[in-house]
Amino acid sequence: MGSQRCTVVVGCQWGDEGKGKVVDVLAESVDIVARYQGGANAGHTVHVGDEEFVLHQIPAGILHPQRRCLLGNGVVLDLEYFFEEYDALVRRGVDLEGRIGVSQRAHLLLPYHRLLDRVSEEDRAGGPIGTTGRGIGPAYEDKVGRRGIRVADLADRRRTSELLDGALERVDRQLRDGHLREPLERVRVRDQVLALRERILPLAVDTGLEIVEALACGRRVLLEGAQGTALDLDHGTYPFVTSSNTTAAAAATGVGIGPTFVDAVVGVVKAYTTRVGHGPLPTEFEAELGDRVRELGSEYGATTGRPRRCGWFDAVVARYAARVNGLTGLAVTKLDVLDTLPEIRIATAYRTGEERCTEFPANTTSLADVEPVYETLPGWLTPLGGARQLEELPPAARRYLARIEEATSAPIRMISVGTRREQVIFTKLQ
Ligand code: IMP
Repeated sequence: MGSQRCTVVVGCQWGDEGKGKVVDVLAESVDIVARYQGGANAGHTVHVGDEEFVLHQIPAGILHPQRRCLLGNGVVLDLEYFFEEYDALVRRGVDLEGRIGVSQRAHLLLPYHRLLDRVSEEDRAGGPIGTTGRGIGPAYEDKVGRRGIRVADLADRRRTSELLDGALERVDRQLRDGHLREPLERVRVRDQVLALRERILPLAVDTGLEIVEALACGRRVLLEGAQGTALDLDHGTYPFVTSSNTTAAAAATGVGIGPTFVDAVVGVVKAYTTRVGHGPLPTEFEAELGDRVRELGSEYGATTGRPRRCGWFDAVVARYAARVNGLTGLAVTKLDVLDTLPEIRIATAYRTGEERCTEFPANTTSLADVEPVYETLPGWLTPLGGARQLEELPPAARRYLARIEEATSAPIRMISVGTRREQVIFTKLQ
């Protein structure tokens, strides 16, 4: 993080790049970690000693004592899952007292959003998107439709009741039209929100104000993205995307600060590519290699358990992500997963018929038809898990990293070579 005071950490592929570990490691040197978008669709995995934590809504900085963790206004807050996660952390001995704040402007994700997510997947013309089923799309639809319920609305019990009654009435109609096979439990939802309201209100803050005041006192802040650039609502492989802006520009809006407060943007790329859900993945491995890398990298969804589709590193996507996010640095994760591959490929361009293109296309249908143009590099066939300095990496691994750096024009600041906190290399540029 160097001398930067406000840093964004953003995924540069299709999510699951290892942001959880990167945020956990960088959180060592910050005071506040704030999530700026998404919700419980995220699954940020952090290993501390022999323990594994999967965080869905609470920022990955929470595993460092004393760090303050915020959920910004750009997040859709699933109250039920949030408190499940909160209580599970407390049971595991994490002290959360005074450490979590939730934006008063954050929209609530309520149980009916999950039902609507299911209905919309089942009824969608053109087939399902393969969402996480966490209600993300419907919650953001309510937000932009200006009928959402926000944390601030909970301050008044009567108003909460009125808003809920209106929403439940509307959703009931919508679900019946959508031929839902499961009834909406109106009373249960209503009672649950009214009960959780009491717990969330003491955590409600103005995240933008808190962050700006902290920066003014010389404190350091990390803005934690979820999902990745290729899943961004505007810049990703639409419609096979999530329903929020995942990219770095959304970080300022998503916590309530101006963009000039941000000093640095660290893009996270995995040393290969993965994707869960449907939609094009140009560099996808053929079945056998896909199965092998999935096992080597434990590539199963942290939220849904679904097997992830795996492929070679796609420099077209990474270069696009470097531009769209304005990266000032890169963190490369899971390099060790490639330890046993005799050769490693990088897609440097796409070909469609006679045409060669080096820019990520806006047309998702045409992306499904492209053929990647590969460059092949030798593998290093050496376990990297013990390396702590760049010089300890074999030349072939350094050459691979140099190609990634060259392709993205972003300097590599950090390399992760295993799941444990200490399995990390900071480059000299740090
Ligand atoms: P949703 O965000 O649940 O609406 O899902 C939309 C798309 O984003 C699907 O392809 C999901 O698999 C994908 N997605 C959502 N969250 C994550 C994540 O945290 N990691 C990877 N993929 C995700």
